[in-house]
Amino acid sequence: MHVLVLHGPNLNLLGQREPDVYGRVTLDEVDAALGRRAEALGCTVECRQSNHEGVLVDAIQAARGGCDGLVVNAGAYTHTSVALRDALLAIDRPFVEVHLSNLAKREPFRQRSLLADVAVGTIQGFGAHGYVLALDALHALLNSPRT
Ligand code: DQA
Repeated sequence: MHVLVLHGPNLNLLGQREPDVYGRVTLDEVDAALGRRAEALGCTVECRQSNHEGVLVDAIQAARGGCDGLVVNAGAYTHTSVALRDALLAIDRPFVEVHLSNLAKREPFRQRSLLADVAVGTIQGFGAHGYVLALDALHALLNSPRT
């Protein structure tokens, strides 16, 4: 089982960016934790970050051949990107949406996700640990006899 983890815009600044909202864990630390969890689960992860919508679309399209599922924190593109939604629908792979913060507690413009209704589910509000929770959830789903 191979999982693509996608981090959207500004998540490269994790740890420095609004730490009261997003925490002090860096993106490298998130990716390292995912690598350790993947090893324990017996799967592989590839983690990619981009600030560019088209690069994220290309990464999703490229995953079509080689990944079983995705963990996606699209950052601000969550709220705006029909292109990312369409790309995720096009490759027909299950994905878990992740947000470090609990969007339900935030500004009205963050309350709408263009990905939520096509994701398997959403994990939000648990900070960096949410990524590991998402990988666990995806792993369980992909190993379920009912999928
Ligand atoms: C975020 C929430 C988004 O609204 C925001 O634009 C981000 C991060 C989160 O992880 O909480 O960049 O996706």
